[in-house]
Amino acid sequence: MLREVTATRYITPLREGGSLPGLVEADDLGTYVVKFTGSAQGRKALVAEVIVGELARALGLRFPELVLVRFDPAVAAHEPHQEVQDLLHASAGLNLGMDHLPGARDFTPEVARTFDVDPLEAGRIVWLDALTVNVDRTTHSSNLMIWPTLGVAPPRLWLIDHGAALVFHHRWDASEPGKAYDFRRHALGGHTPDTRAADAELAPRVTGELLRAITAQVPDAWLADEPGFASPDEVRGAYVDYLLARARASAAWLPTDFPTRAQLADEDARRVARTRQDRPDWLKRVPDLHGKPTAEQDWSAHLG
Ligand SMILES: Nc1ncnc2c1ncn2[C@@H]1O[C@H](COP(=O)(O)OP(=O)(O)OP(=O)(O)O)[C@@H](O)[C@H]1O
Ligand SMILES: [Mg+2]
Repeated sequence: MLREVTATRYITPLREGGSLPGLVEADDLGTYVVKFTGSAQGRKALVAEVIVGELARALGLRFPELVLVRFDPAVAAHEPHQEVQDLLHASAGLNLGMDHLPGARDFTPEVARTFDVDPLEAGRIVWLDALTVNVDRTTHSSNLMIWPTLGVAPPRLWLIDHGAALVFHHRWDASEPGKAYDFRRHALGGHTPDTRAADAELAPRVTGELLRAITAQVPDAWLADEPGFASPDEVRGAYVDYLLARARASAAWLPTDFPTRAQLADEDARRVARTRQDRPDWLKRVPDLHGKPTAEQDWSAHLG
């Protein structure tokens, strides 16, 4: 079972996170990044965090400890922002904490350029993401951190943030365990991930017994009242069945196509050219960023 701790101090919101996680101190003297049940992402994001994170750990990947955090909004009485107060008041009770890695750095495209990743490790991470349909580990939103960074030991890759994984739990009846998803823009695609070796190693380790032990760690309250299911245990069973079937069908979804950064840039350029072709002249000057942060410094071209 996940350890339970009690929040003693709300330190600050982490505004890099879309779900407005908070940095929290607890009665075991630990510091945790807490994801709140009252966030817009909802409790299914927390279920995905537990199941995918604990599966990652069981398969030998680095993933910070998860704890259940008893949270009373009174410990954040000093927090001045109303949107944070609203979130915390909607989250009284059990929430999910992840051990905070002090000084950790996000694995950004700049870090990725100089950081060596072993192809088998990269393959294992891509394999886990493909198994659990985690499409939120891309170049620009890697949800990978490197730690430690103070020179005490070599920095290693750590996985975080699996809240967007297990997309099938939003539409249970329409989910197809053999479905392939596009992982060509995976954050580790440029590190020659050996997904075939990872598949041979990891697929046999994903057993019903392991999945039952992992889903048992999800609190009942986050699984209750799921439409179409009579009990939290029935929902757990559905996660086990789906992931087991998907692990057995890996030949149908194993990602093996990882274009280089130059090839992806080329594809982007061609797509932009196609999109712009039929636009009126003034619209051709609007940058097409496809969700990427702008690298453009000179906006004068768009003002004339
Ligand atoms: N365990 C951790 N240790 C140190 N920093 C962390 C940890 N977990 C998260 N962070 C920092 O907080 C940021 C937001 O975390 P996370 O991605 O889990 O939140 P989120 O709300 O799910 O974000 P989003 O949905 O926008 O990706 C991370 O990018 C990272 O910088
Ligand atoms: Mg994130």
